[in-house]
Amino acid sequence: MRQIRCGVIGLGIGEAHAASCVNNPGAHLQKICDFDHEKARNLAKKYNCRIAAHADDIINDPEIDLVIIASYDSYHFEQAGRAIANGKDVYIEKPAVCTADQAKQLRGLIKKHSRSISSNLVLRTCPLFQNLKEEIQSGSFKDVYYIQAAYLWGRVYKILDGWRKEDPGYSIIAGAAVHLVDLICWLTGKLPDRVSACGNRLATGGKTHFDDFAALRLNFPDGLIAEITVHGGCAHPHFHELRMYGSEKTFYHDLSGSRWINLKGEISNEASEYPAKNLRHLALDSFIGHLADKTAPAMITADDMFNSLSVCLAAERSLKQNNESIHINYY
Ligand SMILES: NC(=O)c1ccc[n+]([C@@H]2O[C@H](COP(=O)([O-])OP(=O)(O)OC[C@H]3O[C@@H](n4cnc5c(N)ncnc54)[C@H](O)[C@@H]3O)[C@@H](O)[C@H]2O)c1
Repeated sequence: MRQIRCGVIGLGIGEAHAASCVNNPGAHLQKICDFDHEKARNLAKKYNCRIAAHADDIINDPEIDLVIIASYDSYHFEQAGRAIANGKDVYIEKPAVCTADQAKQLRGLIKKHSRSISSNLVLRTCPLFQNLKEEIQSGSFKDVYYIQAAYLWGRVYKILDGWRKEDPGYSIIAGAAVHLVDLICWLTGKLPDRVSACGNRLATGGKTHFDDFAALRLNFPDGLIAEITVHGGCAHPHFHELRMYGSEKTFYHDLSGSRWINLKGEISNEASEYPAKNLRHLALDSFIGHLADKTAPAMITADDMFNSLSVCLAAERSLKQNNESIHINYY
């Protein structure tokens, strides 16, 4: 089977992608690049690959099949669009784009050039959530009628210092809540048709140009309601909290553990692994496997990526329109 030749742009979380390529026998890490040339030089030594002086040297390189984009959010659309127009496949950090217009254009480019794209929506790789999905599919919840999820970031420095603070297009919904939007859609196999959102920036005392807290309500066509909160400035360890309520079963996942509760009120513990960061490479691995053999499904498809993005962009619109309920257009 052919080896997929990869280039990585941006070496924050992008370093993990570079490491995944090196550890994947189906991939070959050709080049990496970063604004910080010294960082790029050190990592090129560590991973035994070449350095690109600029992202364009990866995007235009005929010897690269897959461009892995882990740059700041505001570069994503432009880098992905040019890579696709050059005939490359793309693995992109979330959010893939920052606006609805960019989402439409990117979708059009992917179709026009028949390329594949996937995104690093990592919660799907977590055994705890995989077990929960199996439990939902087994029918043991009977009817899931309400889901409550919280993205407790617990790393306030990430929004008070650095590029997120400077990036005019940064959104805590598209940048963080997107993980829980994707998780809920994937767990239930359903897509919401309406969303509303409100937020504030009290936790950081208004030091950010975006709301550091947001609350989203997702309404699904069958009546299911999901509420997601995203906390940029909370006093809490980094954590993804989830409560799922069915007519015959309830699931809780919070700092005190993961539990099932049945109709008799009996509680049993769930021991499967969370957050299982050591398994997060499986999202990129599965995409590389898909590129080598198109019959092998990617864990996160283009539709999955655009669906969660569509929900987040509609939520962002609602936030700007005073919590108005917005009909979601899927790109
Ligand atoms: N999927 C996830 O769980 C997850 C987690 C963290 C970050 N991210 C995403 O990854 C992206 C990067 O975030 P981060 O936390 O790694 O940031 P970071 O600041 O830790 O690292 C980003 C690195 O990329 C470099 N860079 C940025 N734009 C570049 C460009 N155009 N050309 C060359 N180098 C560039 C910077 O110099 C920096 O070294 C963001 O889009 C973020 O949302 C995703």
